[in-house]
Amino acid sequence: MNSDQLVHRTHHTHNEEQHDPILQPPQNKPPTPIRSFSTDPIRYMLREQRLLFVLIGVAIATLFFSAFPLTNPEPASSLSSPLLHDPTRDPAFESGSVLPTRRILLEGLGSMNVGGKVPLGLKSKSQRIVVTGGAGFVGSHLVDRLIARGDSVIVIDNFFTGRKENLAHHFGNPKFELIRHDVVEPILLEVDQIYHLACPASPVHYKFNPTNVVGTLNMLGLAKRVGARFLLTSTSEVYGDPLQHPQAETYWGNVNPIGVRSCYDEGKRTAETLSMDYHRGLGIEVRIARIFNTYGPRMCIDDGRVVSNFVAQALRKEPLTVYGDGKQTRSFQYVSDLVEGLMRLMEGNHVGPFNLGNPGEFTMLELAQVVQDTIDPNAKIEFRPNTEDDPHKRKPDISKAKELLGWEPTVSLRKGLPLMVTDFRQRIFGDSKDNSNAIANAEAASTKMFA
Ligand SMILES: NC(=O)c1ccc[n+]([C@@H]2O[C@H](COP(=O)([O-])OP(=O)(O)OC[C@H]3O[C@@H](n4cnc5c(N)ncnc54)[C@H](O)[C@@H]3O)[C@@H](O)[C@H]2O)c1
Repeated sequence: MNSDQLVHRTHHTHNEEQHDPILQPPQNKPPTPIRSFSTDPIRYMLREQRLLFVLIGVAIATLFFSAFPLTNPEPASSLSSPLLHDPTRDPAFESGSVLPTRRILLEGLGSMNVGGKVPLGLKSKSQRIVVTGGAGFVGSHLVDRLIARGDSVIVIDNFFTGRKENLAHHFGNPKFELIRHDVVEPILLEVDQIYHLACPASPVHYKFNPTNVVGTLNMLGLAKRVGARFLLTSTSEVYGDPLQHPQAETYWGNVNPIGVRSCYDEGKRTAETLSMDYHRGLGIEVRIARIFNTYGPRMCIDDGRVVSNFVAQALRKEPLTVYGDGKQTRSFQYVSDLVEGLMRLMEGNHVGPFNLGNPGEFTMLELAQVVQDTIDPNAKIEFRPNTEDDPHKRKPDISKAKELLGWEPTVSLRKGLPLMVTDFRQRIFGDSKDNSNAIANAEAASTKMFA
């Protein structure tokens, strides 16, 4: 093949109507002009199925723009196109309460509604949620509610104060997983939300296992890695022995940093600080709940918390031990009220902190009276010297939760205490083998009150 042929072949590759230069040697015909889009647009489009590709492209574009319209038929302020959602225009962002993370886009997609239909593949799916300390008192009730809502729940617990029995009714449910793990060690899981409850909560236990700081740090690390929303269960103990009454979230507290309770209250204060630092510095979505005294079924028996102490003592016909003069006050919230508040906080747009407690205030002697009325009117009261740094009064100001979460407790002490007594009686005297299921059913019924 000489150089003329080479030139000739190169030329013909642009025009298939020409003879194959190998089979038929080139003849001295004038070369056919190359047809391009600019010289002969119709023939150009009809060749090599170009028209078909163009039509397919037009069809795809039409489908796409009808599914995700760029123009907004609603008022501009409503930001109805979630793909165009500008997090900096979110009122929560403007108020500094929420920083943008990938969740803003995902949530927008989840709630997306186009012409009354949710586009295929964008339906809001159930969430995968970690509950640390989920085998404990509050955690197990929270797990019941999340599972009932249709979420997938992973419980992390080292069973320091929690019990598998609290969750036994979920074993075998494919949406439920239980991992024995100590939160002071890191763990990697793909989740959407983290409810961080793992922490010994009673004086008897927290003196021996202060997990607040390292556990919280690890869970914040997990939230950062996977872009999950993180809720910290802090405590009214951050107010210490308060000089302001009732306590609003704006009050900074009066805490002894080196006292016997400090591993708990200073630990929770540090946990709040870490949460806010991760939020402000790294954009992690955090929520902070300051929980006031909570009672209900599945509380640890004999763990030193006043309601469980009194109830167990009255059932066993032992004297009710009152520390100090019994005039110190506390407020007691039933566990289903707390769980409702925690879930509203997690799903809402506000970081907090939020007080979650029942503003009904009782002295210890008044509480003993309610326990006597409920269990045994002849129960005796025994006075003991008060414990160190015991706060004199405690009562939540819940105006902020009422206004921003639309939440307030609904179960009074006289209504909630008998539910707890039934559970304690069964556990102390072994009246029933399958108590967890009964409680879960009762909780499911009580959630209807909030629906
Ligand atoms: N119940 C209340 O009145 C109250 C009040 C204020 C704050 N809180 C907070 O709510 C949360 C739950 O309290 P609760 O009353 O259910 O207590 P709980 O003791 O019943 O539950 C705590 C759970 O955390 C687990 N846990 C403890 N340390 C752990 C660790 N290092 N790793 C993994 N799991 C661990 C325990 O085994 C238990 O299951 C706690 O963070 C507590 O500080 C509770």
